Amino acid sequence: MKLWSGRFRKETDALVNDFNSSIPFDQRLYREDIEGSMAHASMLGEQGIISCADAENICTGLRGILADVEAGTIEFSADNEDIHMNVETILTARIGEAGKRLHTARSRNDQVALDFRLYLRRQIDEIVEQLLHFQKVLLQQARQHTETVMPGYTHLQRAQPITFAHHLLAYAHMLCRDVTRLEDCRARMNECPLGSGALAGTTYPIDRFATAGELGFDRPMGNSLDGVSDRDYALEFLAACSILMMHLSRLAEETILWCSWEFKFIDLDDAYSTGSSIMPQKKNPDVAELVRGKTGRVYGSLMSLLTAMKSLPLAYNKDMQEDKEPVFDAIDTVKLCIPVFAGMIETMTVHPENMRRAAGRGFINATDCADYLTKKGMPFRDAYTAVGNLVYYCQEQGKTLEELTLEELQRTSPLFETDVYEALNLENCAMSRASFGGPAKAEAERQIREIEAFIQTRENV
Ligand code: ARG
Repeated sequence: MKLWSGRFRKETDALVNDFNSSIPFDQRLYREDIEGSMAHASMLGEQGIISCADAENICTGLRGILADVEAGTIEFSADNEDIHMNVETILTARIGEAGKRLHTARSRNDQVALDFRLYLRRQIDEIVEQLLHFQKVLLQQARQHTETVMPGYTHLQRAQPITFAHHLLAYAHMLCRDVTRLEDCRARMNECPLGSGALAGTTYPIDRFATAGELGFDRPMGNSLDGVSDRDYALEFLAACSILMMHLSRLAEETILWCSWEFKFIDLDDAYSTGSSIMPQKKNPDVAELVRGKTGRVYGSLMSLLTAMKSLPLAYNKDMQEDKEPVFDAIDTVKLCIPVFAGMIETMTVHPENMRRAAGRGFINATDCADYLTKKGMPFRDAYTAVGNLVYYCQEQGKTLEELTLEELQRTSPLFETDVYEALNLENCAMSRASFGGPAKAEAERQIREIEAFIQTRENV
């Protein structure tokens, strides 16, 4: 029999029963549901709304259920619709009368909002931990390549010399933002909806500050309607996940390019690659491609929740039960992608000689050549034009800038002297870009130290 069957005179249609039920997916909230109920029951006891003996019975019963769910000995039922009614029904079956007092001064509407926040809070902590590990992997690779010159690209055209460390550190910085975005979202999410009731609070003398404190929230939410109808925290979480997947996807795309025969900047470890069923020579970057592919899935979760929430009148609407699957799917996807991606980056082999070779073609020291003339007194715009002409000449001659003789160079400008060859040397070009945040070795080392400190402050809490 249903918990809410009093008002009804007919059984729910079997199809409607399944349609309405969320237990197949919300059962993963069992722990949070039980934690929330224990805090609620204890508060009811403290406030004299139920007896302390009942409160104790409830908590003992709930602890038993938690242990049994974890041991896998409990079967949830679609007849009890969702995790909240399943737990309550099992509790009452086990402890009798006291179980029926648990839902005093509470609604599933504030209950589900509470469970979801508790769950997301925990998930954020785990995802942040994975991100910090991934950052360490990036730093470890970066440390080995602070002098590995490679072409930096714009429009996927060789542009200016950088180092492989500099490139990897760009991603480490993105991950810092992903971490702080999740932290911001967690901080804003950390208000407790419990006690909002169905929508309009309650006439019982509940203590919302007590339950909020007990469950580790900063404070109770300030408006009961908002308390039950807000899903901003889930949207913010999905937005943060989408952005973080976008970062992974960009690195995935670059990894795919880098391990192609066209680039060969890196080789992926055999353990992180897959073969072809027909082409014996193939070694494919499936991990990177899957991460790139799964990014769309996470964006999809964000879009479906945004769409589910738009135009919902206050307060709770059953549409909101649709919040869980996209969020759960995004969590599963993100938590699968980060560690596998980190492993792929950790085990890849870098080919500095191929990066250096690529850097040698494509005139990526042309800006440096113009800067050379500028430093000798020529206005930058004139130097830019002069070097443009030199590049044209080089292409006709099949030469690089540094392969031109001093005489050839001086035909363009008498300002060229023998020290130009030092200025055009690619290692020098990369290393002398010592502006704050640039690819020079000292700057890479500064970035590494900063990100190490970022990780450390979070690991020491
Ligand atoms: N299973 C529901 C959900 O996930 C719980 C809240 C149900 N509330 C209600 N009034 N039907 O949203």
